[in-house]
Order: sequence, then C-alpha cells, then structure tokens
Amino acid sequence: MKRTLIVTTIILALATTTFAADITLPPPQKTGGKPIFDAINERQSTRSLDESALDNQTLSDLLWAGFGYNRENKRTAPSPKDLQETDIYVILKEGVYIYDAKNNKLLEKNTGDFRKDATISQDFVKTAPVNFIFVVDKSKESGHTAYFSVGAIAENIYLVAASKGLGTVLRTSINKDALRKTLKLNANQEAVAGQTIGKKK
Ligand SMILES: Cc1cc2nc3c(=O)[nH]c(=O)nc-3n(C[C@H](O)[C@H](O)[C@H](O)COP(=O)(O)O)c2cc1C
Repeated sequence: MKRTLIVTTIILALATTTFAADITLPPPQKTGGKPIFDAINERQSTRSLDESALDNQTLSDLLWAGFGYNRENKRTAPSPKDLQETDIYVILKEGVYIYDAKNNKLLEKNTGDFRKDATISQDFVKTAPVNFIFVVDKSKESGHTAYFSVGAIAENIYLVAASKGLGTVLRTSINKDALRKTLKLNANQEAVAGQTIGKKK
C-alpha cells in the first residue's frame, strides 16, 4: 500500500513537472514591423546585451520569423528539397526548450541555467536572456547544404531583431560537446550555430 502510494506520488510529480514547464507562446505577429528595407539597413551584430528577459510575444515573433510555418506545412525560411532539417532549441535562464513550430510552443528539454554551454569563450552569452541553438538532423540532410538553411533562419531573426530594436549575433563558436548533453541530442543531430538575443545595452 505504502509502496503504491510512493510510486503514484512520483509519477504524479514527474507528470506535473513535464507539463508545467512547457510554454505556450502567444500567436506570432505576422504583419507590421519596420519596412523591410529599413530592417535590412539596420541589421547588424550586437554583443552588448542587457540581462533582462524578453517577453513571450517577442520570443514567438522571433521564432516564427526564424522557422515558423507561413503556408500549409511550409516554413518562413527555405531548406534543401524542403527537408526542414533544422530545429531551434531555446536556452533561457530557467531552462532549455525546443521550438514546436506547429503548436507554437516551447517544449521543455532541461531545467536550470545552461547558457554557459552556448559559448566557448564569449562571456556576454552567459548573461544574455536568450540563446537560440540551431540543430540539424543529419538523417534528413547529411551534407553541408544544411548550413545554408541555418543561415537563412538566422538572417530572418536578424531582421526581426532589427525591426524590434533588439540586439543579436549569430555565432558558430558554441560548445558542441556540452550542448549535445544539455540539449539531449541523438546521434543524428548536430548543433551547428547559436544566435544570442537581448535588449541592447
Ligand atoms: C557563419 C557565421 C559565424 C559567426 N560566428 C560568430 C561567433 O562565433 N561569435 C561572434 O561574436 N560573432 C560571430 N559572427 C558574427 C560576425 O562576426 C559578424 O557578422 C561580422 O563581424 C560582421 O558584422 P555585422 O554582422 O555587424 O555586419 C558570425 C557570423 C557568421 C555569418
């Protein structure tokens, strides 16, 4: 009886932890913002970032622009043969998530502050509020062409950051070994780059 109670309590605790930690994002804003030429004119890399968190609307907008769906089963960034081989992982101060673009959610992968794993030696990455990590599924696209997809996603995010007056920088100097564990990647997945985002200091 006692054992059954303990097992039930553990199962309930685990279930609550998993579901409670997922984040449902507000619908992304798909119109408006700065004119595209203004955003291109203001696109730049910024490494001087405030530590304050970004709100969920901003996260939703950045992620949708990066690799959301803008047509039936088709995305805001191109990919070779429409393989859609990239996933965006999101490292926040409180935990690690994967962007579920279909359901506009952040699904929890890990809890705790793992921002240090998003860099090898750039200290601002450890205190910036948001790090996106671009992870390629090599079982879908094993060649170098997947890197172009990541570039297209990152540029969309650069332009929305410029439109919103946020700072961002695309970085390939990520700690791939640490990220493999933190993001709980399988053998086919590879973290290829990160993009750090925050309000400008
Ligand atoms: C593929 C790629 C990798 C990059 N890796 C890093 C990086 O690891 N760390 C960093 O601070 N910036 C990185 N950058 C940003 C470049 O340093 C930056 O784009 C360049 O200095 C030009 O500045 P701008 O983006 O403001 O025009 C990278 C950019 C690209 C396209």
